[in-house]
Amino acid sequence: MARSVVVGGNWKMHLELDSAVALASDVRNRLGSQRGAEVIVFPPFPFLVPVAERLRESRVAIGAQDLWPEAKGAFTGAVSASMLRSVGCEWVLIGHSERRHVFGDDDALVARKLTVAMAEGLKPVLCVGERLEERQAGRTFEVLGRQLDTALAGHTAAALASLVIAYEPVWAIGTGQVATPAQAQEAHAWIRDHLRGTHGAAFADAVRIQYGGSVKGSNAAGLLSQPDIDGALVGGASLQADDFAAIVRARAA
Ligand code: PGA
Repeated sequence: MARSVVVGGNWKMHLELDSAVALASDVRNRLGSQRGAEVIVFPPFPFLVPVAERLRESRVAIGAQDLWPEAKGAFTGAVSASMLRSVGCEWVLIGHSERRHVFGDDDALVARKLTVAMAEGLKPVLCVGERLEERQAGRTFEVLGRQLDTALAGHTAAALASLVIAYEPVWAIGTGQVATPAQAQEAHAWIRDHLRGTHGAAFADAVRIQYGGSVKGSNAAGLLSQPDIDGALVGGASLQADDFAAIVRARAA
């Protein structure tokens, strides 16, 4: 089945107001009317409103990098799903490896965040991926299976219709050490096959799986030409609008 390309730019904890708005304008100029690929940017929380303003009536959507899975209350420093919806977010990253490994989000918290995001109408990008020592120990698929199962258990295929999965091997994130197209394809095919077992063939064939980890304009075509790679989640290179645009256009190239 033909799945459309989806490319996200995760700005992480970079930029300040002026540079964030300038980047949003540059992304809009290059990709604001792009067809054939879905494009999302994930700015830091303080820049969601001005970036959404810049991207209004363009084809570039906006998402948040995280949320807290409670509706409201005494949760100092946290941001709820309904807050994100109210400022124009359509998407949210769930379980990014930096949340898991820097901030300590465990599988149970990732599952709660996913459930709340979907209940509030946010489209989730669920990030999964193994660490280097897990890959070297031959445990990649065990880790991916556990991360997928704990997050997706209890949700029907229909409820997960908007879900995007990002396969991001931790050893490839921010390191310049991109997975080879064959390594990435192997993991993506495994994920799709696993989802066939847990959520059925129709869901597995339709769900889009992004690759993330040191994607650049120069390596995107090799990755995106793989049969089970449906897009990219881009960190560092998404801060350069020209490189980000090259990644979005890589499948066509
Ligand atoms: P990177 O980050 O492209 O800088 O490796 C990817 C990500 O963390 O989503």
